[in-house]
Amino acid sequence: MASVPSLASSLHQRIADALSAALPEAGAADPLLRRSDRADFQANGMLALAKKLGGNPRELAGKVVEGLPAGELIKEVEVSGPGFLNITIADEAITKTLAARAADERLGAPLAEHPGTTVIDWAQPNVAKEMHVGHLRNSVIGNAVVRILEFTGEKVISRHHIGDWGTQFGMLIQYLIEHPHELDHKAEGEVSGEEAMSNLNRLYKASRALFDADEEFKARARRRVVDLQAGDEETLALWQRFVDESKIYFYSVFDKLDVEIRDEDIVGESGYNDMLAETCRMLEESGVAVRSEGALCVFFDDVKGPDGNPVPLIVQKSDGGFGYAATDLSAIRDRVFNLKADTLLYVVDVRQSLHFKMVFETARRAGWLTDDVKAVQLGFGTVLGKDGKPFKTREGETVRLVDLLDEAIDRASAIVREKAQDLTEEEIAERGAQVGIGAVKYADLSTSAARDYKFDLDQMVSLNGDTSVYLQYAFARIQSILRKAGEAAPVAHPELALAPAERALGLHLDQFAATVAEAAGEFAPHKLAGYLYQLASLYTTFYDQCPVLKAEEEAQVENRLFLCDLTARTLRQGMELLGIRTPERL
Ligand code: ARG
Repeated sequence: MASVPSLASSLHQRIADALSAALPEAGAADPLLRRSDRADFQANGMLALAKKLGGNPRELAGKVVEGLPAGELIKEVEVSGPGFLNITIADEAITKTLAARAADERLGAPLAEHPGTTVIDWAQPNVAKEMHVGHLRNSVIGNAVVRILEFTGEKVISRHHIGDWGTQFGMLIQYLIEHPHELDHKAEGEVSGEEAMSNLNRLYKASRALFDADEEFKARARRRVVDLQAGDEETLALWQRFVDESKIYFYSVFDKLDVEIRDEDIVGESGYNDMLAETCRMLEESGVAVRSEGALCVFFDDVKGPDGNPVPLIVQKSDGGFGYAATDLSAIRDRVFNLKADTLLYVVDVRQSLHFKMVFETARRAGWLTDDVKAVQLGFGTVLGKDGKPFKTREGETVRLVDLLDEAIDRASAIVREKAQDLTEEEIAERGAQVGIGAVKYADLSTSAARDYKFDLDQMVSLNGDTSVYLQYAFARIQSILRKAGEAAPVAHPELALAPAERALGLHLDQFAATVAEAAGEFAPHKLAGYLYQLASLYTTFYDQCPVLKAEEEAQVENRLFLCDLTARTLRQGMELLGIRTPERL
């Protein structure tokens, strides 16, 4: 395991050193290095610096060039325009660096020396309710962020804050008491996710109808809420049956989504029940929260309603009930003091931003969040239909997540079948699922989370364009070349000159570790997705322009196979971090 510095960072360091030698008064100035079309890199930093310190930028650039050490890294450097540097990296340096990456199973990406602890709140569906596209986003984005952070060495603790508590359980439980066999199963383990959800739907509808029609049932249901909150054993046991039935359903959806959830990480709203009263007492005693019209409230100068009156965060209602905020505040105490988090991350719809803003601020005032703890909502936007409006069925209902996933898998299976030459039915089904689910995940991950996006299956499963299918095909194509290579092995030959498409591919491959670090630092999987798409595009150009197995000399065949192999490994590692499979054959 060896971390490999990128060519860009080595170059950056050398130019920065030459710059501070040429102009000591500039201190540690940034040479503003970036990739360029003219040469490999361009450095623009001399322009602004000379302007600021009153010198001639071309002269300064010339001095920097003189100060650059001779060595293997730079092949050519020239001053151009008003004072840019155009820099070309030596072919040999590119191949050598790539060989060092290839020799490392982490592709040269460093592991954090002093990892922190991140508690990430993601994949949080609600008990006795159908999962919808919003839950697609918190599952897919959350899963990718967990994988990316773990890859950097961070200690990651998942918390699935499912909605498993609240007044609606009074109604459900009371109904089950009065209709005791409604959730009975034929035999242990015989219920599918679909059946479990349809049982819950049936119960929900029936109990709701009774609740609305029958005043006496309503009263019994309300009393049942009190029993539940008081921890009455019989009531809790029935509540648990709803949770268990829902879990059967959740797990079936997560399984289809190819997202792994561990039971011990499911700590829903009910898990903080014992802390709620204490949380409120602490807030009230410290004066962070005050009584207002009977409710316990926290006020903010900058949060006002349309009428100009302040809108408080209500931690306890006037009837004594605790709500969503009290639970989230208690969860913060648990995550900071028990789990020892230094980062709290919430993958939750942006429409809950005000809630989290107020919750975080309250926790800061209470001293539960200090400067040592970072609390971030990774807010995601809305999934839209093709018409650009929030995604609904023709009947105007929210779309069931399972239906969408099934449709994606069907479409993808059709494509796989069409392209399949020697695949069995079983293989087609397996690849179809990997391609279809990959397509849905990639579409979600390839735009920045905060933005809305259109759920367009035609586009998602397209072979051309910025889709996972395109990336999976690039990977599978490389595997087929490697299989055909026979005796020839992927071996780096740093002495060989590189064609332009090889250089472009190589310089991009070299950026993998830096891209992962950036995606991790900003909780931005879309940066990794964008990188991988560009990698596949550069590979396509390379493949069009540079014959691999039919290259002229043996060393070149080997070196190109080496580039193919490293590209495939980088694609696979990157896709794995996004939670997307890369089948060997398609
Ligand atoms: N269950 C909620 C929903 O479906 C999301 C929970 C988000 N997490 C939290 N700690 N509040 O919208």
